[in-house]
Amino acid sequence: MRALILCGGAGTRLRPITHTRAKQLVPVANKPILFYGLEAIAGAGIKQVGIIVGDTAAEVEEAVGDGGAWGLEVTYILQEAPLGLAHCVLIARDWLGDDDFVLWLGDNLLEQDLQGFVDRFEADRVATMTPTLTGGQDRPAAAQILLKRVPDPHRFGIAELDREGRVVHLVEKPEQPRSDLALVGVYLFDPTIHEAVASISPSARGELEITDAIQWLIDHGRRVRSEVLEGWWIDTGKLTPLLDANRLLLEMIEPRMEGEADAGSRLDGRVVVEPGARLVRSHVRGPAVIGAGSEVVDSFIGPFTAIGQRCHIEGSEVEHSVVMDDSSIVDAGRIEDSLLGHHVAVSRSRALPRATRLMVGDHCQVAIGT
Ligand code: DAU
Repeated sequence: MRALILCGGAGTRLRPITHTRAKQLVPVANKPILFYGLEAIAGAGIKQVGIIVGDTAAEVEEAVGDGGAWGLEVTYILQEAPLGLAHCVLIARDWLGDDDFVLWLGDNLLEQDLQGFVDRFEADRVATMTPTLTGGQDRPAAAQILLKRVPDPHRFGIAELDREGRVVHLVEKPEQPRSDLALVGVYLFDPTIHEAVASISPSARGELEITDAIQWLIDHGRRVRSEVLEGWWIDTGKLTPLLDANRLLLEMIEPRMEGEADAGSRLDGRVVVEPGARLVRSHVRGPAVIGAGSEVVDSFIGPFTAIGQRCHIEGSEVEHSVVMDDSSIVDAGRIEDSLLGHHVAVSRSRALPRATRLMVGDHCQVAIGT
């Protein structure tokens, strides 16, 4: 079994953060989203990992390297343009060979581990190859998909099941969804998928859709197993889900104090203070993490906040937010529900006339309080 992780694509919905950076590397609880995927894949005993990269190839390669940190052997496969998820499978054909593989969307985060999902795919194959167990009815599944009930099915690939729970129909982002079962970004395939991706045509949005390739399998008499996901799943491509993921993962952190806090500082609940971080006359109410080398002075860091590395927070309150590396927040009042990129500076100006002075890039969102 191999794993193909998709880290190409444009990332338009997390702009401006993803104008220049890979959305799969946005940190959640101070760890890039992609690393959670790599951990899940390594945890399922998979060693050979192909990563599809696009415009942000250099950044992804620098972060993941040869995969040795996870005990993986990583091969990078360049996709010239984001032509769709099935296109990624098409260009990885030679690398995948005739192995079964996990297709993992690099911006998805899920609570459930991968091992059980893989085990059940393999157990199904053993069962179908033993006709006494199935009455000889079924062929081995050519694919296995993971589904989750969602309140906004038009944003996802959607599956319709028949009364027996078999997948009968799949549609990518339907305007009028006939089911609320969304396709989660983790799929298992046997080599039959290569014929499927080579046979389909681009969708209305100009992409080769993996949803259409799975539908092709069904239309050609192949069995597609489905499972409904246990636990949470987040497609992190937008601000609110990203902050939700940050909250859910911070709730699970083990408190750790590897930095320093002076006598005037207080830490409540689950708080991680990474090496070299310093708290001065500050209050951190967990769950929260303060990244390595960051300084928090005369400030309050509220629950569900992840402060990256080498940040400087002074005279401010920050809650339910992600602040990336090398940013500073000084005398800024209270900041909530926010995502700050790298090297961002937020400060109060005493200059007259009193005014809000901004230098923000394209597609930024600024909501001014009082
Ligand atoms: O998150 C689950 C959803 O993911 C599924 O419900 C949909 O059926 C599936 O099509 C996909 O929809 P998205 O619109 O969220 O896909 P997105 O364009 O965000 O791409 C998912 C990942 O794949 C992301 O890490 C970028 C990468 N990608 C995407 C495209 C289109 C590539 O590497 N190459 C590509 O050509």
